[in-house]
Amino acid sequence: MSRVVNPYRKDFPLFQAEDQKELALAYLDNAATTQKPYVTLLAEQLYYESKNANPHRGAYDLSVEATMLLEETRDMVKHFFTVPKEGEIIFTKGATESLNLLAYSYGLTHLKQGDEILLPISEHHSNLVPWQMVAKQTGCKLVYLNLNEEANISLEEVKGKLSNKTKLVTLAQVSNVTGSIYPVAEIIRLAHEKGAIVIVDGTQAVPHLQVDITELNPDFYVCSGHKLYGPMGVGILYGKMDLLNQMSPFLYGGDMIEYVEDFSATYAPVPQKFEAGTQNMGSIAGLRGALTYLEEKNRNQLFQYEEELSNYLLEQLKKVPHVQLVGNKTGNNRIGVVPFLVEDVHPHDVVTILNQDRIAIRAGHHCAQPLHRHLDVLATCRVSLSFYNTKEEIDRLCESLKGVRRWFGYGSERTI
Ligand code: ALA
Repeated sequence: MSRVVNPYRKDFPLFQAEDQKELALAYLDNAATTQKPYVTLLAEQLYYESKNANPHRGAYDLSVEATMLLEETRDMVKHFFTVPKEGEIIFTKGATESLNLLAYSYGLTHLKQGDEILLPISEHHSNLVPWQMVAKQTGCKLVYLNLNEEANISLEEVKGKLSNKTKLVTLAQVSNVTGSIYPVAEIIRLAHEKGAIVIVDGTQAVPHLQVDITELNPDFYVCSGHKLYGPMGVGILYGKMDLLNQMSPFLYGGDMIEYVEDFSATYAPVPQKFEAGTQNMGSIAGLRGALTYLEEKNRNQLFQYEEELSNYLLEQLKKVPHVQLVGNKTGNNRIGVVPFLVEDVHPHDVVTILNQDRIAIRAGHHCAQPLHRHLDVLATCRVSLSFYNTKEEIDRLCESLKGVRRWFGYGSERTI
């Protein structure tokens, strides 16, 4: 039986079961999705067991309770991210849907030929392909921010590319591939000076950093529930009320209307205007459970531990022969998301071999093909940490990596 010592693992059923086994799963793919604590799972189960009704639809108690749960969760999200009074939270089915909503409902109507959208070359496809669609349909242009030596965005690069033509800046707060924390507060300030609006994709940031939307002051902020220890199928979109009020709905149908005539309709106020159809109440209840869990923990302590783990991971990976770190090779301005290569071995082969040692990491382009071209690699292996990981798991990863090249008959003599 493995001897994993970590106070948080008992809160997660998957680890409770794994830690009884001879060789526990080392789950190191948290940028793809996080494991769920009991609190999340129970909240979702309890919703279906005792509160299941369609919110905003019925005058009977059960439906009112479902409506209350939905609105209380919205308030909780506002509190969790310190949303300013003039802002609003909209539930979507994920960060991808939030970004598509912005591309369709803001981008298509507010951008035109001659305008520019500024975005880093490292963006996840979900914050890149929708803007390609907007550029094609409106004639506006995408302008890319390149990364510096530390796989970060310098303010000089931003100043050099921002112009009076820039109408929209959209960027991740933390890269899902390199783990770099971008200077979003400064970028928002610079963009606002030019009159551009800013969308921040906080999907990889919110599980690892304290996010205060009031202080950051983006125009829109998105993230997903399932990377924040919540269930799949729920996402968050924050927007400034004056912008949301100007925008057309994204999806049309039930619950987003005020009056429907035979040939026209008026729409409900924000946030209902953007929440057509029945909401994923089970996932929203689960998200509430996840936020409760995180609020009950000392989040600074969780994040401090993650930083310690991240530095340990970098140190240990650097000692493994033939492992080459990609992007930021230092511990500066980053979270514990670390891409790397093993000399002469394709990343997909590396993760297949690690899997035999019950170690789960991701390989591929991580939905960021332009970034991989920029870094001049086809694919990378990526480790991504959470507070339930341990140094012992990192040691196992490094031991397993030492054996990878032997599978292909390579010795230890060559270096990159
Ligand atoms: N966006 C997720 C990742 O980076 C799926 O793995």
